[in-house]
Amino acid sequence: MERKSDISGFHELSPKRRLELVKAFAGLTSEEAKALEKTGALDGKTADMMIENVIGTTELPLGIATNFLINGKDYLIPMVIEEPSVVAAASYAAKLARASGGFTASSTDPVMIGQIQLVNVKGPEKAARDILAKKQDIITYANTVDPCVLVKFGGGLKDIEVRVLATPAGRMVIVHLLVDCRDAMGANAVNTLAETLAPMFEDISGGKARLRIISNLADRRIARAKTVWKKDVLEQASKGQFNGEDIVNGIIEAWAFAFSDPYRAATHNKGVMNGVDAVVMATGNDWRAVEAGAHAYASMRGRYTTLTKYSKDKDGNLIGEIEIPTAIGLVGGVTRTHPVAKVAVKILGVKSANELGEVMASVGLAQNFAALRALATEGIQKGHMRLHARNIAVMAGATGKDIDTVAAKMVEEKKIRVDRAKEILEKLK
Ligand code: MEV
Repeated sequence: MERKSDISGFHELSPKRRLELVKAFAGLTSEEAKALEKTGALDGKTADMMIENVIGTTELPLGIATNFLINGKDYLIPMVIEEPSVVAAASYAAKLARASGGFTASSTDPVMIGQIQLVNVKGPEKAARDILAKKQDIITYANTVDPCVLVKFGGGLKDIEVRVLATPAGRMVIVHLLVDCRDAMGANAVNTLAETLAPMFEDISGGKARLRIISNLADRRIARAKTVWKKDVLEQASKGQFNGEDIVNGIIEAWAFAFSDPYRAATHNKGVMNGVDAVVMATGNDWRAVEAGAHAYASMRGRYTTLTKYSKDKDGNLIGEIEIPTAIGLVGGVTRTHPVAKVAVKILGVKSANELGEVMASVGLAQNFAALRALATEGIQKGHMRLHARNIAVMAGATGKDIDTVAAKMVEEKKIRVDRAKEILEKLK
């Protein structure tokens, strides 16, 4: 099967049929497909090795966002999320972006920062200078002992930076280890390296090393994505309900509001993270690390603002851009042990952590665009209510085609309640 992600009518198929299509798209084996289909794919033994005091597992839905074209490559995107509308919205935004060739994405080298806190340093500025003077020797030493086997894969300690920090507990010297983690998220590697090298910094500075830990503000490991949503395409997609230019203006105004107001920016970025986190979760990555990094990065200009940016091109089309830290990996974590995460990575077909970061950024941008488009035009409740109504119809006992019939009637009447669903269902019979 051709790797095309714009599968028309995907949402109308049964879960079984959708899985068959994804299986063909990603070349999954029957066993891999089964791991997605059956509940409880994470067996007790594997779960017990992951964390402490395990008593069971819990599950969330795994959906597939369609239509994603990123750097000319088609992707089906596995997303793990409990919130209705998110997967549909991402697929919709990606579909509209295809008209201009999809997303272009790029990323920096996968460099994470390890921090070493030096306290009780007599002359912090001199210590900083002395550390920098020995920088090359320390880098050579670190990459020779290579305690985390990063060098073999093209990574390792790349640079050292030093800051003198005034704090309520006095002045401290903070050493930053800039570590290229390649396809690892890097927390273990960076922490090990920080602990290994800390005594050297104690010797040079005469101070005491306290904290030796990775920073989740991964501002050296950035993914960027960009696309153009054509105003005509936006107008057509609204079935003529809204004017294309007005949709573009509405989205830019929505972004400008968030750019200037942290109350709105928090919600705006929440929408971005709906997409990003869902991919992070599907691939077994650490969503707390990605969340912490994203929000800290959004504050880097001295105040909290948006992770995305919108503007117009010379023809009045909408340009959307995103820049986010991507502390994620493909090796060394749960990604390689969780049966569903492994298959999710195969469906994505990503070959490196950088590529995964670029996909995440594109999904975050798509998700944000979809939210802003809806908010700036018809509002988001309509779409939410449609899905909510389907759930209520199921709760009232509807099955098969009746689910949509009952849901549509309730939405039309603006009465989305189980008792009303039961009445409609009764009449259908
Ligand atoms: C809901 O999960 C996300 C939104 O609130 C995002 C936004 O307001 O931009 C719709």
